[in-house]
Amino acid sequence: MTINKKINIAIDGFSSCGKGTLAKQLAKSLHYLFIDTGAMYRAVTLSLIENQINIDEIQSIERLLPSLDISFVNKPEINSYKTTLNGRDVEEDIRSMEVSNLVSPVSKISAVRAFLVDQQRKLGLSKGVVMDGRDIGTVVFPDAELKIFMTAKPEIRAQRRLDELKRNGDELVTFDEVLLNLNSRDFQDSSRSNSPLKPAIDAKIIDNSFLTRDQQFHMALEWALEKIN
Ligand code: DC
Repeated sequence: MTINKKINIAIDGFSSCGKGTLAKQLAKSLHYLFIDTGAMYRAVTLSLIENQINIDEIQSIERLLPSLDISFVNKPEINSYKTTLNGRDVEEDIRSMEVSNLVSPVSKISAVRAFLVDQQRKLGLSKGVVMDGRDIGTVVFPDAELKIFMTAKPEIRAQRRLDELKRNGDELVTFDEVLLNLNSRDFQDSSRSNSPLKPAIDAKIIDNSFLTRDQQFHMALEWALEKIN
C-alpha cells in the first residue's frame, strides 16, 4: 500500500486575487486544512476597533493579544469556513471596509505578527495545510513543499471584490473606493520592512487576470500532486 506523504502549501499574493478560493478548492480536494491568515489579521484589527485601542498603543495591544482565540469553524452546509473570535462568528464583520482600511497598519505591528506567525506555524506542524496570506512562503513556512504567488490586474481584482461586497449586502460601497483600498493595501503590504509581500524565490506565479477558477485550480492541483506522489 502506498501512503502519500502530506505537504504544506503556501499561497501568497496581492489583495483580492482569489487566494482563498484556490486555497479552499485545494484543501477540499486533498482533504487538507485550510487556513486564511488574512482573516487572523482582520480578527485582531476588529478586536482593536471594538476595544477602542489605537494602533500606536503597543502595550495595550500586547496585553490584548493573549486573550484572543481566533479559530476556523467548518460549515459544511455552505461548503466553507467561518472565522470565530473568542467563540463569536466574525466572518462578516472582519470583511467590512472599516476593518479593510485599518488592517494593513495593524499587520505592520511586530507584536501582532509574532503572535499570529507563532499560531500559524503550530497549525502546520503535522503538514496537510493549505495556508494563504502574504508571508507564508517567505516567513511562516519557508520550507513549504509547494509555494504559489498569485496576482491579477488591480481593476479586475477590485471588480471581483466589489461583487463580493455587494453579494454580502453592502450596497453603498463604490468601485473607486474598493480600488483605492486595494492599491493602498498592496503598497503598504509590499513596502513594509517586517515580512513584506513578495514571492518566495521558488514560488510558482499565477496571474489569474484571464484565467477561470477551474483553470487555475487544475494547474495548482497538478503542482501539488507532483509534490505529493
Ligand atoms: O488576505 P486579506 O486581504 O484578507 O488580508 C488582510 C490584510 O492582512 C492584508 O492587507 C495584509 C495582512 N496580512 C499580512 O500582513 N500577512 C498575512 N500572512 C496575511 C494578511
